[in-house]
Amino acid sequence: MDIYDAVNAKQILRVTKKVEDFACNILSPGRFEHSLRTAKMCRKLCERFLLDVHLGYLAGVSHDLCKNSSDEVLIALAKKDGIPFSSLESRKPSLLHGRAAAVLLQDRFGLENEAVLDAVRWHTFGRKGLCPLGRALFIADKIEPGRKGISKRVRKEILALDFHDMVIRVIEDNIIYLNETGKIVAPETLEMYDEVKAERKQGNICGNLSCG
Ligand SMILES: [Fe+2]
Ligand SMILES: [Fe+2]
Repeated sequence: MDIYDAVNAKQILRVTKKVEDFACNILSPGRFEHSLRTAKMCRKLCERFLLDVHLGYLAGVSHDLCKNSSDEVLIALAKKDGIPFSSLESRKPSLLHGRAAAVLLQDRFGLENEAVLDAVRWHTFGRKGLCPLGRALFIADKIEPGRKGISKRVRKEILALDFHDMVIRVIEDNIIYLNETGKIVAPETLEMYDEVKAERKQGNICGNLSCG
């Protein structure tokens, strides 16, 4: 690790501590526990797939920072990123909680790391072109040990897969769950699904590691 990386790592650890304290105060106990479990799972995935473990933990602990915020707060925060709202987001502002959390990380905590911001911003549905850290967070959020609807056996099966197959399996299970409960699969999730499947077919086992 050179001096630049050491300074960066220190800054990330400092931000992580502040975000964790803030999350503990602002979130319900259950949501905070979910955030911690997601952070630990994301760190574990990062370690396994050679991504930055500190960034993985930070992404996990901060991804639901705005989950308990009102629609008004979510809309006001998410507007700041300048990205137009989709029709789904306009109809259901709670879906903006990832975008709102990314804005909060930048504005309140001064975080500039694009991989973490992107991962948090798009964690609910995933997205085509999402960086590896974002994919790791997407998986961690869906399979952390306290997540309802996933058995120990299935979690173990998923954790035994390689990175691409893990994303594919998590999305496929998610599609089955959404179909069973009469909910719509977000187009962004399907686009990521197609992208990851195409990467696997091409034998691109690392995916786009440039922003991990
Ligand atoms: Fe979330
Ligand atoms: Fe979550």
